[in-house]
Amino acid sequence: MYAVTAATGHLGRLVLDRLKGDVVAVARDVSRVPSGVEARHGDYDDPNSLRAAFAGVDRLLLISSPELDAARRTAQHRNAIDAAVAAGVTAVVYTSFLDADTVATGMTEAHHATEQAIFAGGLAYTILRNPFYGDAFLPQVADGVIRSSTGGRGLNTAFREDLAQAAANALTGEGHLGRAYDLTGPLWTYPQVAEALGIAYEEVPDAEPGPMAWLNGMVRAGALERQTGDLESLLGRPAETVVERLTTLRGIF
Ligand SMILES: NC(=O)c1ccc[n+]([C@@H]2O[C@H](COP(=O)([O-])OP(=O)(O)OC[C@H]3O[C@@H](n4cnc5c(N)ncnc54)[C@H](OP(=O)(O)O)[C@@H]3O)[C@@H](O)[C@H]2O)c1
Repeated sequence: MYAVTAATGHLGRLVLDRLKGDVVAVARDVSRVPSGVEARHGDYDDPNSLRAAFAGVDRLLLISSPELDAARRTAQHRNAIDAAVAAGVTAVVYTSFLDADTVATGMTEAHHATEQAIFAGGLAYTILRNPFYGDAFLPQVADGVIRSSTGGRGLNTAFREDLAQAAANALTGEGHLGRAYDLTGPLWTYPQVAEALGIAYEEVPDAEPGPMAWLNGMVRAGALERQTGDLESLLGRPAETVVERLTTLRGIF
């Protein structure tokens, strides 16, 4: 039997859509679990709920908590790992983040600590180091122009749908135990996307300080340009590109 935590989130729902058969959806609020799936209450802050939720589960997809405080987020993940061990789960697939293997501070602090806890915990594991989701960076067309402050540098974002499919494949497929995958989407730049869509591109300063300005600074520094073949290999096909997504959206609206 498979279990998926954080099953009411965007990623969790997409994974559930892609899993067939014996699956349990673990959620804080079971009333929000899609119908047709067995729902069990499991809160990362409540170890007892997690132990009960994982009863009879063979393979667990542990979707990382959205908690921003690294210490609390790590404690939540440790609760889940400890509960999985106590419940007799045989393998855990964990949604980590790129570079969490080498960077133990900042954005990857809790992911790094969680990976270490999984390695130390004795469960068979698969680590999925996700990139940034493409949705937050999806180019907007305003007055017929795509604008960004990314300096024309590359982004290795991927869409949740593909990351969910990769997670479902890693959870249910063979040959993934004891492995860590560094998942990167197909490299793209804002100017390239504008050109492909026949739209003008303009490089502009960030409108205001904030999370997007911080992320754009990372892009300008080349921090999102790493490429691996792991996502394509787990999917067994190329991941969706930004141009493909925008073309689909244009067709819809
Ligand atoms: N790669 C990226 O760019 C990126 C961006 C954002 C987040 N993330 C990470 O990826 C994860 C999945 O992404 P997503 O898009 O599915 O996020 P999401 O839509 O925000 O979903 C977060 C999920 O975590 C659940 N959750 C929150 N606190 C919990 C707790 N104490 N115990 C159990 N479940 C709890 C939420 O449950 P409720 O429905 O009850 O609130 C929800 O199901 C996030 O949680 C975050 O760690 C990655």
